[in-house]
Amino acid sequence: ETAEGTELPGAEFVVVANRLPVDLEKLPDGTTRWKRSPGGLVTALEPMLRSREGAWVGWPGLADAEVEPLVEDGLQLHPVMLTADEVENYYEGFSNGTLWPLYHDVVAPPAFHRHWWRAYVKVNQRFAEAVAEVAAQGATIWIQDYQLQLLPAALRELRPDLRIGFFLHIPFPPTELFLQLPWRREIVEGLLGADLVGFHTAGGARNFRSLALRLGDAQAGSGRSEVVVGDRKVKIGAFPISIDAAALDELAHDEDVQKRAAEIRADLGEPRRVLLGVDRLDYTKGIDVRLKAFHELLAEGTLESDDTVMIQLATPSRERVEHYQQMRDDIELTVGRINGEYARVGHPAVHYLHQALPRRELAAFFLAADVMLVTPLRDGMNLVAKEYVACRYDLGGALVLSEFAGAAVEMTQAYLVNPHDTDGIKATIAEAINAPAEENRKRMKALRRQVMTHDVDRWARSFLDTLGLPAPTDD
Ligand code: ADP
Ligand code: F6P
Repeated sequence: ETAEGTELPGAEFVVVANRLPVDLEKLPDGTTRWKRSPGGLVTALEPMLRSREGAWVGWPGLADAEVEPLVEDGLQLHPVMLTADEVENYYEGFSNGTLWPLYHDVVAPPAFHRHWWRAYVKVNQRFAEAVAEVAAQGATIWIQDYQLQLLPAALRELRPDLRIGFFLHIPFPPTELFLQLPWRREIVEGLLGADLVGFHTAGGARNFRSLALRLGDAQAGSGRSEVVVGDRKVKIGAFPISIDAAALDELAHDEDVQKRAAEIRADLGEPRRVLLGVDRLDYTKGIDVRLKAFHELLAEGTLESDDTVMIQLATPSRERVEHYQQMRDDIELTVGRINGEYARVGHPAVHYLHQALPRRELAAFFLAADVMLVTPLRDGMNLVAKEYVACRYDLGGALVLSEFAGAAVEMTQAYLVNPHDTDGIKATIAEAINAPAEENRKRMKALRRQVMTHDVDRWARSFLDTLGLPAPTDD
């Protein structure tokens, strides 16, 4: 329920992200409605913030949308407006045409344009002004992700009283790659405006620290997990993000979800094996890699389309960015080719849905899948891998996971693969399919031990404890 135009008190705890947790969607008849925003950041943060009664500052997802602050389920939402030009230059351009590919090991070439950079600076400044307006004296501000790397310093300039944390949800690149960025010093100095800068992995934290010492005004601090900037200490650390594991486990126990999983397998024609991929449609996710492996396994006769099907669920993402358009065409061509060769009427070999599905439906797909394929070329964490495991309380299924996902650091009992090695992926898929049930149960049990005990609440607590924010009083 939303109550628009409500008078909002100065907030003690503020999350700032490029997107609000809900997205304003324009319907064909010209009206608008709110829907859940895409991606792992919202999956991770939303449950945590609801329990802390904070405020969330972000873009409502549509160009030129002037939206009043609103309260949704007890959460204050403060929209920041972006013009159509800013969406193009700050969001699609600098964030997703420069930083995204650069930070993901340049798996696609990043473009460097000065007018994109100028828009990034301007929008980060606008976010700083928006946060400065909603934050109470001495409030704690938690800034999220690569779209807002200038915000820590810009905000400190306006409001030195605030306690500022920053967390990067994507990989922080090796220093040699980062140094390509014409605005490398400005980004490092922007981040050093925070009191704590967090990454998914120790490697990311190390890369940032060495750049801070090399490019920024930082000096070494008393240990590896801090640097000193003027009279301030800036902490640097690794905080692997996670999911609301208990909520997914509960969803998977729901009888209707289980019925739906059985129905999905029945609709597929009761194949012996179901392989599944679930991703935002992004070129970093290695969707092409797994399709290629599946194609070759069918071609060689290692798998038969009569008894093995693959499902790829892909949420539409960043559809106006060129790399994404190209990749979508490539993937859809490959799906068409595989089906052209191996489908029978009424029995596709690959089922491909370019759609965002509700959480319950996703949980049913996870339960229905014998082998989950998570094969990114590079990924900050990858929450889908953890979601699959959280749903498999039955200890069924097997997870094939890229070594280049942050999740691989914790999920060592998965079937780990190098996503650049097609033969290796093929062999590993075959291994996961043919492994004795007991072997897969053993692996799943170990994976669940990790995922169920390291949930998103633990992640948030560990970050906020390090930042120095006391735990909420109600638990
Ligand atoms: P990223 O943040 O890069 O999108 P993650 O794997 O960390 O990647 O998070 C993706 C989130 O989006 C997960 O919560 C996942 O369940 C959700 N998701 C991915 N594909 C779909 C889909 N087709 N429908 C609904 N949700 C999806
Ligand atoms: O975690 C990566 C991330 O880019 C988030 O910052 C973002 O909200 C999500 O994926 C989805 O991408 P976008 O907001 O560009 O649709």
